[in-house]
Amino acid sequence: MEVVICKDAQEVGEVSADRVVDAIAGRQTPVLGVATGSSPVSLYEALERRVAAGVLDLTHALAFALDEYVGISPQHPESYLQVVRRTVVEPLGLNPSRVRVPDGASADPHAAAAEYDAAIRAAGGIDVQILGIGSNGHIGFNEPYSSFASRTRVEVLTPQTRRDNARFFAHLDDVPTHCVTQGLGTIMESRVAVLVATGENKADAVRRMVEGPVAASCPGSILQFHPKACIVIDEAAASQLGDTEYFRYVAGLRST
Ligand code: F6R
Repeated sequence: MEVVICKDAQEVGEVSADRVVDAIAGRQTPVLGVATGSSPVSLYEALERRVAAGVLDLTHALAFALDEYVGISPQHPESYLQVVRRTVVEPLGLNPSRVRVPDGASADPHAAAAEYDAAIRAAGGIDVQILGIGSNGHIGFNEPYSSFASRTRVEVLTPQTRRDNARFFAHLDDVPTHCVTQGLGTIMESRVAVLVATGENKADAVRRMVEGPVAASCPGSILQFHPKACIVIDEAAASQLGDTEYFRYVAGLRST
């Protein structure tokens, strides 16, 4: 596991964007796994700058979102279908017909989840999976005690996650209780994983993911077993790490 500590969110965006670009270099049809939420915003902005500068072309890319709420309309501005359209598809120039988000509005979300998992495999798997981490250690919406072998499925959101995401909704009661999420087993099949985290409220989860035992109580800790995982964090998110001796700093702090 590579851990890169950056001075701020903008640098997190630049460093993680470089990792994403490296992961898809030479791929005719790169397959991206995309997260929503606040964490990857600076990463998407950095990718957008590369697209605008003509050094990155994602028009042939395929993309699969990590997750989607169950119980809100796909037209709701906070559905991940809409968030992915606003923050990924439009700014990065992806072809909307090549971008998929789990169908949380399906009459049979369980079947839709299984079909989504199969579609990722049929596309040849994900070249680079972009991830954030929840304050409780979740990745995707794999909440604590999710099976490490889990596939894309319907999950129940914990009260903590619903409180954390209430900032996107008018009221806590409006935050959906269920979701469809790629499983931990699905995420672990990605060829490269790039996880971004910023801010002190992620420091505990980052410490448990990076230094803690691999344990279902912190789903992100499974990335210790990922063959190519890169964790790009700012100093606040790194503030509880004890073993910074081993981690790579950028921005002139330290580089090994
Ligand atoms: C989003 C997702 C989640 C978020 C996590 C952190 O698609 O799967 O795991 O990455 O909840 O969210 P933010 O970045 O908003 O703090």
